[in-house]
Amino acid sequence: MTSSPGIPLNTYRLRRRRLMRALKGGVAILPTSLERVRNADTHYPYRWDSHFHYLTGFEEPEAVLVLVGGRHSRSILFCRPRDQERELWEGIRLGPKAAPTRLGVDEAHSIERLDDCIVALLSDVPMVYTFMGEDRRWDERVTGWLARVRSHARSGVMAPSAIHDVRAILDEMRLVKDSHELRIMRHAARISATAHRRAMQVTRPGRHEYEIEAELLHEFCAQGARFPAYPSIVAGGRNGCILHYVENRSLLAEGDLLLIDAGCEYQGYASDITRTFPVNGKFTQAQQDLYEVVLAAQEAAIAAVAPGKPFQVYHEAALKVLVRGLIDLKLCRGTVSGVLESGEYRRFYMHRTGHWLGMDVHDVGAYRVEGRSRPLIPGMVLTVEPGLYVRPGKDVPKAFHHMGIRIEDDVVVTRQGREVLTGSAPKTVRDIEACMETLR
Ligand code: GLY
Ligand code: MN
Ligand code: MN
Repeated sequence: MTSSPGIPLNTYRLRRRRLMRALKGGVAILPTSLERVRNADTHYPYRWDSHFHYLTGFEEPEAVLVLVGGRHSRSILFCRPRDQERELWEGIRLGPKAAPTRLGVDEAHSIERLDDCIVALLSDVPMVYTFMGEDRRWDERVTGWLARVRSHARSGVMAPSAIHDVRAILDEMRLVKDSHELRIMRHAARISATAHRRAMQVTRPGRHEYEIEAELLHEFCAQGARFPAYPSIVAGGRNGCILHYVENRSLLAEGDLLLIDAGCEYQGYASDITRTFPVNGKFTQAQQDLYEVVLAAQEAAIAAVAPGKPFQVYHEAALKVLVRGLIDLKLCRGTVSGVLESGEYRRFYMHRTGHWLGMDVHDVGAYRVEGRSRPLIPGMVLTVEPGLYVRPGKDVPKAFHHMGIRIEDDVVVTRQGREVLTGSAPKTVRDIEACMETLR
């Protein structure tokens, strides 16, 4: 497959045009990701660059998109040439001949010609837009091209006088999702929600974390989402207090909670769900007490997502409820405003309440604009994921020691308010216990 079937060809064309208009006569050079060796002659599963894919839908490695802005604007793809021998081993390549029809680009050439063509493309151009500071070899390659253009100065050629980071433009474009992207993201979210339900139904004391991880991956892959959007966190008991726990090797014990943070990538878009539930299917009173605080905080935060409101508002909404709960459960002392001010809650809640979600799980886009938390607008997608993580301490009630609880949903900002994409993964105490009951 060479392009994502969920996004029409014309959408890619419009995205490229929008970027070309923003170049103000400059030229953008956008490489896709490199293939990376895992060990010996085995590579990591290939994942293209999100920005590159956003503009092309093209999934092969060794490709560079050049966009020429200004009056003679055009799009040029450099990609791997057809090669019978290589294709026998590695699979079919699109090749430059078929690329214009299949991808809608104006021109395409073999990637082997990039070094030769680029000097002419960068001559008499005021500025270059590319990714800088991400990969040293790429930075050197670009500066090498500029040096070559400059070496033609005596024949009257003008070299670009500035290099801009093209991500500044693309991040903003990707931040607001269109209806095609939202359709894909809804689907990704549904697959992940099914996987979480499956995980709840197969969890038992005596199973290993990796057995539950296997069920998640099975569900993703069986529904056409071959890869998780990020390494799955399957954290039983005290492992739930390690925020990025990915070892997933421990036994699940009777009486413990299991925190699962897992989401698939579907057609290039991420989903990101966390659910926390009892290994034996029934919350203890202390587990339920702490869980209800996180759930109430999450619901308050979701309700605070609305167009026009600053991004940070839903974090603040979650925080207030968490702090109230921490005081009620004697994990913090004092008043809500006092604990908020002192930051004492950070012992138990040390991360933000969410992030942008899209092609990347921590998606692109600034959170602050002109020094202020940016207002939400319809089409933005974000996660809402408050949690509490209780490490033992002598002033910490014993009943809560080692509990790690997070609840995370994916939410789209709509004109009316919000749409929760991941709501079919059970999250109330009643729904979780009912879901876990079904296979018993
Ligand atoms: N799964 C990564 C995160 O929740 O941010
Ligand atoms: Mn997240
Ligand atoms: Mn997550």
